[in-house]
Amino acid sequence: MSFDRLAAVYSYMEYLVFGKDLERCRFRYLDALSDSRSILILGEGDGRFLNRLLRHNEHARVDCVDNSPAMVRKAQALISTSGDALNLRVKFHRISIDKFNFEPNYYDAVVTHFFLDCFSGDQLSRLISNIGTSANDSCRWLVSDFHYPNSGFTRIRAKIWIWFLYAFFYYAANLENRILVTAHPYIAQSGFQLMDRSHYSMGMLQSSLWQRLPDCGAVEDLGAQV
Ligand SMILES: C[S@@+](CC[C@H](N)C(=O)[O-])C[C@H]1O[C@@H](n2cnc3c(N)ncnc32)[C@H](O)[C@@H]1O
Repeated sequence: MSFDRLAAVYSYMEYLVFGKDLERCRFRYLDALSDSRSILILGEGDGRFLNRLLRHNEHARVDCVDNSPAMVRKAQALISTSGDALNLRVKFHRISIDKFNFEPNYYDAVVTHFFLDCFSGDQLSRLISNIGTSANDSCRWLVSDFHYPNSGFTRIRAKIWIWFLYAFFYYAANLENRILVTAHPYIAQSGFQLMDRSHYSMGMLQSSLWQRLPDCGAVEDLGAQV
């Protein structure tokens, strides 16, 4: 899978199809990371979230993982426009997530915007377990993903749109995963609690804020958090 071919046009395509709704998802819970010091961003893409985060939080150090060289170049170029100051706080890892060394108990925030929906259930299970190991005891996690509303017209609309998007990314980015697997049960299982969530685009887009709390073990009733 590679998003290289899409990097140059990714933001334009997004605005054309969704207007500013994906941006609303990404930035919805940005304030929750105001005090975070070590942040892990997985599948950052073209750097728009990273750029906003670094300006919002002037102390955070960020590890940014993305396996697309073109996406990483775009992100680097975006934050370089402000000189060295922002660059010095970011380490880019241009590798697949399978190769990333998840340091145990290290990060106090994790960000996955429209990234987890690239993976199958088995892949998600492994990935989220690794993220859970690397998260510290009070870690926060910002997640944006696609979502099926529970019923009615909005569900049918979301089904059609999401089918179309997976077909598009299959051809344009060789995305192997063809179905949307909700990551929320896996996140809950790795010891995070859902603190808040917001929906956009008639419920098809979802932004959520998760946190590890002192008494938050693995959650048994996963259905309650999906
Ligand atoms: C759908 S895009 C999302 C980009 C951005 N986070 C956003 O909010 O739009 C997925 C991103 O994850 C990266 N990616 C996909 N699979 C990956 C993997 N296995 N390892 C690292 N990065 C990956 C892609 O290069 C791409 O930049």
